[in-house]
Amino acid sequence: MAELILGQVLTYAADPLAEGPGAARHLGHGAVLVEDGRILAVGGAEDLRAAHPQAQVTDMGRALLSAGFVDAHAHYPQTAIIASWGKRLIDWLNSYTFPEEARFADPAYAREVARRYFDLTLANGTTTAVSYCTIHPASVEAYFEEARRRGLRALGGKTCMDRDTAPEGLRDTARSAYDDSKRLLENWHGRDRLSYVITPRFSPTSTPEQLAALGALWAEHPDCLMQTHLSEQLDEIAWVKTLYPRARDYLDTYEAHGLLGPGGLYGHAIHLERREVDRLRAVGASVIHCPTSNTFIGSGLFDMAGLTGAGLKVGLATDTGGGSSFSMLRTMAAAYEVGQLRHNPLHPAVLWWLATQGSARALGLADRIGNLAPGMEADLIAVDLASTPAIAQRAARAGDLWEALFPTIMMGDDRAIAGVWVGGARAK
Ligand code: GUN
Ligand code: ZN
Repeated sequence: MAELILGQVLTYAADPLAEGPGAARHLGHGAVLVEDGRILAVGGAEDLRAAHPQAQVTDMGRALLSAGFVDAHAHYPQTAIIASWGKRLIDWLNSYTFPEEARFADPAYAREVARRYFDLTLANGTTTAVSYCTIHPASVEAYFEEARRRGLRALGGKTCMDRDTAPEGLRDTARSAYDDSKRLLENWHGRDRLSYVITPRFSPTSTPEQLAALGALWAEHPDCLMQTHLSEQLDEIAWVKTLYPRARDYLDTYEAHGLLGPGGLYGHAIHLERREVDRLRAVGASVIHCPTSNTFIGSGLFDMAGLTGAGLKVGLATDTGGGSSFSMLRTMAAAYEVGQLRHNPLHPAVLWWLATQGSARALGLADRIGNLAPGMEADLIAVDLASTPAIAQRAARAGDLWEALFPTIMMGDDRAIAGVWVGGARAK
């Protein structure tokens, strides 16, 4: 039976980075009609009630109905080490991340963390995540099985590392990375709502042979996305230079091995050189902004204005557990704060778009998720704009939607997520 969900409604008719906040559409008394996992109609509440008298009505009051959040870069295996103190990237990987990822040799542990991860992301209104798994194929199985059980659109892949810069026990080989990734890809890619993502962790933990093997796999499956890390910290970039002395720059270590293309997702991308920006734009690749991670690990300030101005597609992401939150609200707040430090205060319309349609566009999924429109998949959230006393008293003074929404962006958490629908089914 069709469900008619009532509330305020926020949709986008265009890209607010290009068109300004006028690209957004706000209905003060709106409704979304959902059936068989899809959105059938978006419009005024009274109009849709009259046109669909048989639909079951769910009245979310003054809550704001939006597309669910799309987290374009996360590490579900790092769920249990989020908020670990005092390290920068390379020490953080060695001290906290790699020992935790080694625990995923136990498939039961992988299943337990995958369950917990999706509990947390759904509570926070994230309906699609793109996650790194660990080197263990069973960690990919656990991730996709749990997403499938919940009907989620989810993307992910086996993290590949074959250099001795990664610890013993967390290494594969060029050959096994290719074979395991291929088998997982053939098993999971396009099954239900799942997509396999070819996943070399980053150049410092792969040999050139492994990068080339994964580049070859990508060439055989160009409909798959490829995710990796790029120019996150200055120490890391210096390390890449010593490991790949002939590379023109960090991106070139990927480019030379078939790992630069339109379906490439490059996490962080903070300290880019001109050539790297030009090449990323020329091939139509996406960069993924992970602001809570960049401040938490001390990486630097992403250049949103420079990179979007250069024509790059940008997605927004938590990067859990390098990022310090599972919440895309907190992530938007951090993006705002990073923007402020670059004298570029991002408008709430842009922040919200980045967390929904911008990320969906970066993943090549903007025609399916990330917006509320007829024909789109029914992944949506209802956001309480007065979820705490501090937020409520500030929002009460709002003169328009953006003033009403911004306190929730800056101060909201999972308490602001009043409802979540996944493929049309209520998940919170
Ligand atoms: N670079 C390589 N691996 C990682 C990771 O797990 N997290 C972050 N933030 N950066 C990385
Ligand atoms: Zn990452």
